[in-house]
Amino acid sequence: MIKVRVPATSANMGAGFDSLGIALGLYNTLKISETEKGLTVYNNSSDFIPTGENNLVYKSMCRLFDEVGYQKKGIKIVQNSEIPITRGLGSSSACVIGGLLAANAISGRQLSYKEILDIAVSIEGHPDNVTPALFGGFCVSATENGHTVFLSSKIEPNLRFVIMVPNFYVSTKNSRGILPEMVTLKDASYNISRAALLTSLLISGKYEDLRFAVEDRLHQKYRKNNIDNFDEIFEKSYEYGAKATYLSGSGPTIVSVTDSDGSSFYRKMCQYLDGLGADWKCRMLTIDNVGAILKEF
Ligand code: HSE
Repeated sequence: MIKVRVPATSANMGAGFDSLGIALGLYNTLKISETEKGLTVYNNSSDFIPTGENNLVYKSMCRLFDEVGYQKKGIKIVQNSEIPITRGLGSSSACVIGGLLAANAISGRQLSYKEILDIAVSIEGHPDNVTPALFGGFCVSATENGHTVFLSSKIEPNLRFVIMVPNFYVSTKNSRGILPEMVTLKDASYNISRAALLTSLLISGKYEDLRFAVEDRLHQKYRKNNIDNFDEIFEKSYEYGAKATYLSGSGPTIVSVTDSDGSSFYRKMCQYLDGLGADWKCRMLTIDNVGAILKEF
């Protein structure tokens, strides 16, 4: 039996559209075994998760088996995920990485983690969630001709990430569909400078100016219409002391970054969100600097 634990991830981080992402201490844990025949999927989630051949963990496994030419027999998947589904926290990337790693182990570990990353990116379409899900930490990724070049950096665990998760889903596909095909040079240059600044600040541990580094002009202004009180939530977060606030991935989760004593911020923000009456759920998380872990029993 293979046990894989894959972290949640928060992508884009404001300006780093399709490139930046960070792994967070919230996990999807999968127990996977090869059986004599058929497919069995159990999961703990109250959300709908396909249990047939369109299950994402299973599909990802089949993709790797095809790549390495492995003839599988049956597969049993038991999924225990803490990651809210379709909320911009990398739930699908965790399934893809979990499935690929397990399939690689079952088929004799023929692929390296870098080769597994390239398959994961081809399944997901962009690298900003799958890279930190696999390698942990804060990741910068760039994909060229099907190959992803990346750097994963461990970040001092003295930041907290307060995830604010509303009670509705946004699919990445739909959320990308509302973005314009073309952007101005001014907006592109605005984002490049912020993404580069955010990278330098996080890697050097200088967090004072994070607020400026997460500013974005490529996606958040289009996506915020999906979320009631979006601007007000951002304003409140800064009033209550956030170091930075951004839309996580394609949303709808909003993330605020605080210092390690984020508990007062967390309390005030939860109270404020409760007052909005939209059933927001908050959690305060640390960075995961480890990435996916696989154990074979
Ligand atoms: N970067 C993607 C997007 C989401 O903003 O659509 C995560 O891969």
